[in-house]
Amino acid sequence: MNEMEELYREIILDHNKRPRNFRKMEDCTHHADGHNPLCGDEIEVFVKIEDGRIADISFQGEGCAISKSSASLMTSALKGKTLEEAHREAGIVISMLTGKGATADVEELGDIAALQGVRQFPARVKCATLSWHALEASLKGEAGTSTE
Ligand code: FES
Repeated sequence: MNEMEELYREIILDHNKRPRNFRKMEDCTHHADGHNPLCGDEIEVFVKIEDGRIADISFQGEGCAISKSSASLMTSALKGKTLEEAHREAGIVISMLTGKGATADVEELGDIAALQGVRQFPARVKCATLSWHALEASLKGEAGTSTE
């Protein structure tokens, strides 16, 4: 494992051990469930939008280390961002994880770049995208989504 991979591994382990924004939000304006049918895990994402910005974002649910770390990284990164920025970042992350897009922009996402190692494990990609799909569903006003 090279230095960068070790750093990414530490970021993911840290977010799994101490997930940020891991709570239900009572006064959210949007929320949606993300369901991974491969394992049955669910992550619920809560968002509070104020003046076109994500004033608060949190998640709860059951998931593996990758899904929890990804949700924690997502909520840490998106708090305070505009909706446009959030959609852009979600698009970059999902493209990066599914291999459907360029990965060049990933470095600008800071710690979220740690998720790119997941690409080497195709069975875990849906774990990492789960909360991002739930975020997109919530912003579209949908109640839930599935990674299938
Ligand atoms: Fe269920 Fe990862 S194993 S979300």
